[in-house]
Amino acid sequence: MKAPVRVAVTGAAGQIGYALLFRIAAGDMLGPDQPVILHLLEITPALPALQGVVMELNDCAFPTLHGVVATDDVNVAFKDVDYALLVGARPRGPGMERKDLLEANGAIFAPQGKAINDHAKRDVKVLVVGNPANTNALIAQQNAPDLDPNCFTAMVRLDHNRAISQLAEKTGALNTDIRKVTIWGNHSSTQYPDVHHASVKGKPALEQIDQAWYEGSFIPTVQQRGAAIIKARGASSAASAASAAIDHMRNWALGTAEGDWVSMGIPSDGSYGIAPGVIYGYPCTCKDGKFAIVQGLAINEFSRARMDATDKELREERAGVEHLFAKK
Ligand code: NAD
Ligand code: LMR
Repeated sequence: MKAPVRVAVTGAAGQIGYALLFRIAAGDMLGPDQPVILHLLEITPALPALQGVVMELNDCAFPTLHGVVATDDVNVAFKDVDYALLVGARPRGPGMERKDLLEANGAIFAPQGKAINDHAKRDVKVLVVGNPANTNALIAQQNAPDLDPNCFTAMVRLDHNRAISQLAEKTGALNTDIRKVTIWGNHSSTQYPDVHHASVKGKPALEQIDQAWYEGSFIPTVQQRGAAIIKARGASSAASAASAAIDHMRNWALGTAEGDWVSMGIPSDGSYGIAPGVIYGYPCTCKDGKFAIVQGLAINEFSRARMDATDKELREERAGVEHLFAKK
């Protein structure tokens, strides 16, 4: 067994939290040889419910769970943490757009970014799940001036997994037969699910589907999947979101598979002509705890227009929250 690492989860008494904590504690995220100490953050009124979750975590007697800290204090929650999953936020209700939530959630992520800056490990890996995830990640990052900006990422992995599943179902393949799908941009309805570089059983995906299905069904289905689940369930996706968060962190920490890539919302370095600084979904490989953007992919006009549209939305979201950034 390795030495334990500290993993913070915010919104720990919420529905994603309930689907996430037990898997992290069981070793699904960092491996069966990596013990974890969970740091669980909630708002004060949710602390009694959180205590119930802590009781259940303890009752599982997980070999890899070496401790639990439950708190409503951001400074305690992020003290010495190696990983932070920022889930706590207000979920979108029926008919609401993510943009409506920017201001309310911004007020959560600025103080959390500052507390991470002041208390977390210097190489902390932060994943923002709470919506609007990309711009919330930017707000947290911009309140953590002492940390490497690349410590902060946002989740587009659920969209990536949805794209794999849709493509597998259409082509009669297994999920494991699909390689190199990409989610470019924002975790919102402007995201661009791209299969131009994807393969199914080693052959180009675009040769196995027709353009009408790709444009008219696949892209809107992946873009609108979150809203479809809210409509069907009366609540936003939880177990699949938790599973995607585990996938994102596991790949970032332990690496991606040879011959494939994953989609991660990461600070743009200007690659593929995207505005530098916005947290943009890119195809990434990971090695030794670091991510790298897959470079050199050919981008046709169809893709270019969609990549730019989601970039534009992210630049607009950024303009709306700049007042929440720490003064430089
Ligand atoms: P939920 O309402 O069930 O749980 C959210 C929890 O966060 C609540 O327990 C609440 O008390 C807590 N919370 C609120 N403010 C907090 C704060 N300042 N500090 C700590 N905790 C706080 O919601 P959920 O279904 O678990 O969803 C959480 C978020 O994840 C939502 O914003 C949702 O839209 C988002 N989401 C993102 C994706 C994605 O792919 N990126 C997918 C699904 C859901
Ligand atoms: C999802 O993609 O399932 C969620 O982000 C939906 C939402 O808006 O909460």
